[in-house]
Amino acid sequence: MSAEVIYGKDLATQIRQEMKEEVASLSKEGIHPKLVVIIVGEDPASQSYVKGKQRASENIGMESDLLELSADTSQEKLLETIEQLNSDSAVHGILVQLPLPDQIDEQKVIEAIDPKKDVDGFHPINVGKLMTGQETFYPCTPYGILVMLKRANVTIEGKHVVVVGRSNLVGKPVGQLLLNENATVTYCHSRTKNMKELTQQADILIVAVGKPHMITGEDIAEGAVVIDVGVNRVDGKLTGDVDFESASEKASYITPVPKGVGPMTITMLLHNTIKAAKWIHN
Ligand code: GUN
Repeated sequence: MSAEVIYGKDLATQIRQEMKEEVASLSKEGIHPKLVVIIVGEDPASQSYVKGKQRASENIGMESDLLELSADTSQEKLLETIEQLNSDSAVHGILVQLPLPDQIDEQKVIEAIDPKKDVDGFHPINVGKLMTGQETFYPCTPYGILVMLKRANVTIEGKHVVVVGRSNLVGKPVGQLLLNENATVTYCHSRTKNMKELTQQADILIVAVGKPHMITGEDIAEGAVVIDVGVNRVDGKLTGDVDFESASEKASYITPVPKGVGPMTITMLLHNTIKAAKWIHN
């Protein structure tokens, strides 16, 4: 079998066009969705991510501010900034780019954001809502994966989903989202003893670890759907956690890196910001 490639990039372009129209129509009702992104320090990868988020917001006509704070910003100062944004009714979405410098407690920052403006879906209230199957902001990468699967017409209900990786950003929430869609979910992680045996049983395999090419064709079943969330730089080139060549010979569907899951993450951030603006105004 030779896999059909799911290009998140093309899907993202299509969804962003739909959102551009929605932003224009909300604007006529006097609703102007606005996202504020905060970055602390000068990590080049984070800088590049936040610039992408800003550019994407502007491209769909959404208001967006970038607050750039120096690497030595105190936790108190950051919490104060978040408090001001929480009480600013013109701001609908707040995103603090992670990771943060060592002097700042990430969890405290996440919990300081008003859950109604938490477009990352990281606040414990929103995590709890996801766990209990309630409508809320879903973390952007997991939500992007769900939308990709649905738009590619992949059946989720009753399928065995194997998630490799258990991070709070991707692994745990993507498993939960797909469980809510009636999949049977298995998590694998660094202490899993029989990983290959499990990945070979997956109808849908999601890999979010950060290890280049850790999953190869040998690790997957014939006809599996393979979603590669890895973003690794090897010899200056972006590469995923899945060995695309060998895996695509066996998979039915596969996502590439780049142009796969990545563009969907930003798209769902825009989606969540529009959702926040609609909630606040309704
Ligand atoms: N750093 C890497 N990915 C993310 C994300 O989705 N949200 C935030 N806030 N920081 C990140």
